[in-house]
Parts: sequence; C-alpha cells; structure tokens
Amino acid sequence: MENIHKRFPGVYALNAIDFELKKGEVHALLGENGAGKSTLIKVLGGIYTPDEGEIFIEGQKVNIHDVHSAHANGVAIIHQELVLVPHMSVAENIFLGREPKVAGFVNKDKMNKEAQILLDTYEMHIDAEDLISHLTIAQQQMVEIVKAISFNSKILVMDEPTSSISDKEVAFLFETMRALTAKGVGIIYISHKMSELDEICDRVTVLRDGTYVGTEVVKEVKKDDLIAMMVGRELSNYYTRDYQEAKETILECKNIDDGNMVKGASFHLKKGEILGFAGLVGAGRSELMKCIFGLTKNYKGDIILEGKNVKIASATAAMKAGIALVPEDRKQEGLYKVQSVRYNSTIEVLGKFIKGIFVDSDQEDEITQKYIDMMHTKTPTLDQEIGNLSGGNQQKVMIGRWLAMHPKVLILDEPTRGVDVHAKSEIYSIMNDLVKDGMSIIMISSELPEIINMSDRIYVMAYGKVKGCLEHKDVTQEQIMQLAAE
Ligand SMILES: Nc1ncnc2c1ncn2[C@@H]1O[C@H](COP(=O)(O)OP(=O)(O)OP(=O)(O)O)[C@@H](O)[C@H]1O
Ligand SMILES: [Mg+2]
Repeated sequence: MENIHKRFPGVYALNAIDFELKKGEVHALLGENGAGKSTLIKVLGGIYTPDEGEIFIEGQKVNIHDVHSAHANGVAIIHQELVLVPHMSVAENIFLGREPKVAGFVNKDKMNKEAQILLDTYEMHIDAEDLISHLTIAQQQMVEIVKAISFNSKILVMDEPTSSISDKEVAFLFETMRALTAKGVGIIYISHKMSELDEICDRVTVLRDGTYVGTEVVKEVKKDDLIAMMVGRELSNYYTRDYQEAKETILECKNIDDGNMVKGASFHLKKGEILGFAGLVGAGRSELMKCIFGLTKNYKGDIILEGKNVKIASATAAMKAGIALVPEDRKQEGLYKVQSVRYNSTIEVLGKFIKGIFVDSDQEDEITQKYIDMMHTKTPTLDQEIGNLSGGNQQKVMIGRWLAMHPKVLILDEPTRGVDVHAKSEIYSIMNDLVKDGMSIIMISSELPEIINMSDRIYVMAYGKVKGCLEHKDVTQEQIMQLAAE
C-alpha cells in the first residue's frame, strides 16, 4: 500500500501511509485507539475508498473498490466488529454470497455439509445449522475466523481476532496461522495484546494519529521502544496503585446461584479496595456479577449491601442502590450506535439533569467532556455518531458513562479489553483514584498481570464457584492458574 490518504469530517485518519506485507509473514499493525489501523485495512478490503494512494499485489497495481473485488484479489478480512447476520445459520453466514448452487437454487445440504467439515477441521464444536444468535461471542468470533480462512486468500487480515476468545482458542488460532504462513499466506495482525507480538508476529508497523511511524522486526525491537513509538513518549509507571488499610465490608454475597453458570458463589468486598476476579472463560464470573447488578432475576442466595440484605431485581434497582456494571461486551450491551458521543456518555445519568422536560445541555456537555478528557477519548466533536469512533474509543465512552454515575460499587468486566496501552495505563490510574476516594471496585479480568498488579485481593472462580482468595502481596500467576483449573 503506497501513500494512502483517507479523511473523514474532522479527522485525518490516514496521512500518507506506506505498508508492505511479505509472503508468509505475520505483520502486526500497532497503534493507539484511533491511530488508523482499522481504516487502513478497510481500504485494503474495499470498504473505504482512499482519497489518494495505490495498492499493489504481487507487483501488480490493483483496484479494490468493494468487498467483492477484495476477495477476487485474494484479500480476506476478519473485522474488529463482528459482521455476522444473527438470524441466519452458521453455514449461511460462512457461505454468504457464494452459496453452492444447483440450477440456480442454493444447495442447502451441500452448504451445511461443507460448513460442518470446516468447523470440524478446526475442532469448533459448533453446529453448522445453528443460528448465529444462539452462539456466544467467542463462538461467533471463531466462525468469523473459519469464514475468512475458507476464502483461501493470499492475504488474510485479522483485526483484533482474539479480543473475546479463550486461551485455548487463541492457541488454536495461532496454530492455524502458522500453518497458513507456511503455505505462503501473508497475514496482517492487529491486536492490543503486546504479549501476542512475540508469540506470532514477524514484523510490526506502528501508526500514530494517522501517520506512519516505522516498521521493525519483532525479535529485534524492545517492547518499551514500541510503546514509545505508539504513544509518542515513554510511558512511566504503567500500573498505578497506592494500597490502603483494609476497611469495613461494603458488599457481601452468600451462596449465589443463578440456576445455570453460578453454583453457590460467596465473597465479600471491602470499602476502598479493588477486588480482582480471575478464572477461565466460562467460570461464571460475568454471570455472578449479572446477579448482583439485577440482570438475573431469579438468583438464589443473599446480597448484603452496607449491612442490609437487599433484593436486586433490576438494573435500575442496582443503580439506585449504588451499584454500576461496565459489561464485558460493550459493543452489544448498551451502545447506541447511531447516537452521538454525548448521548452515549450521559444516558445513564440523564435523570440527574432533567429539569422539567428539558435536558440541561450545558451540564450534559460538561459531563461528556470531563470523561472524554479523563479517558483521552479521540472524537472530533461531542456530536459525532459513536459508531464512527474507532473500536477502542467506543469502549472508553462506555466506561466513562458508568464512571459518571459515581456508584459506591463499580463492577468492571474486562475493563481494558480492546483499549491501547496508553489508555490501559490511564484506566489503572483512574481506578486507583476512585478507590482512594472511597469507591469499591470489582474487576473481572483475564489478563493476569493486570489482576495481580491492581487488586488488593483476588478471588479465583472455576465452574461457578469461588475456589479461593489470594492476597496481592504474595500472589503468583501459577497460584491463580492452579486454582482456576481445579
Ligand atoms: N466512518 C467514519 N467516519 C468518521 N470518522 C471515522 C470513520 N471511521 C474511522 N473514523 C475515525 O478515523 C480515526 C481512525 O480510526 P480507526 O478505526 O482506523 O482506528 P484504530 O487504529 O482501528 O483504533 P482501535 O484500536 O480503537 O480500533 C478515528 O479518529 C476514527 O474516529
Ligand atoms: Mg480498530
């Protein structure tokens, strides 16, 4: 890709970008949220037409003007936001637009069979005839991956493919990637998980604010240097945490059972602490928190908030009681895609601003701006449709929304998923400030370093139960993993 330019209203998303992918390499594309990564690959995939610039494949200048011509030129893309059609089957989604046909009619049997073979080759345990809407997010992500691979492309692009799949699936994905590169496929890989670089990538290109910063060989470059290239300066103290004396218990949960994934979980949260929840995907952590936030109505067990036994029957009741939850899947839960950044920032606190029937728009602006500044969210204006922000910046707005509520108990489910290193470090520092101010935080995270460096105490869950509690002072990754696998 040569000298690629792309402008959006108020944003110079790509400014003279050069990018080169070799046969058989995995080339990482790195940069902060909003740096232009997804835009660049959307240009390659025919979703955006560049304002300027040229694309060459195997030395030939190509004209990629839509998704179809991208496929015809051997380019397949797994997009950051899942684009499967929910009310269609897995097989229909995989073969969308290229269904096997007999006399002009789709041959459903053949399609289902071929899809099932693909799914089985990758040991997916997914039924080809099942509806997409019945699958978990992780399964949907795996279907996207299978679909992209099935195009037999020369160039495969993966925009944050591991954001919601488990370690086992990640290992499988990497194996598949190695097999593909051995056959000469070139892979462009976008991820905010720095640890994945060493594991799977050969070279890395860094973008910053829509400009090209540089390309390095992964084995020869230091992590800190890459971060400096992304952020534009060195990041000192990545984790901020001032531990304080433990205080009284604010929330206690006894034998919570949701009749499904949660099977008698008990724990307590102290005022002013960060309580980490570790465990494997499917351990029931998110489901436990959903009970506390009133999203699961018929749970059994006791929730005791500030000494009082409370029955939380709805999210509204939870919020009234001072509990907020930033869900794991921020894209599907609670994002109003065609509404403005302002609307999405203040929807939960609006009640506080309604005077008569008019919303005080000055206050709305003030709140929105405050959290945009705090989270370093990149948006041209407060009126921008949130769907036009980069994936990570959408996340930041969603986290800001819940912070604006000033809850007593803040539950964060995978708070740093999909956000860049700089913003991660900001989120850690904000969490530290919040608990110093007396807020109590529960953090579910699959990133062990983050759990270990930020938590006062760590509960480990497995199979719907709490397996143990570890103090931050002497905890190791191995200890957590051992409990998680029990
Ligand atoms: N359709 C659009 N309309 C307006 N602005 C857009 C559009 N698509 C992207 N942008 C803007 O272009 C810039 C680059 O966005 P892009 O999605 O490429 O970032 P990214 O590097 O993929 O970030 P992330 O890590 O958060 O996914 C951002 O400022 C974004 O708001
Ligand atoms: Mg992106």
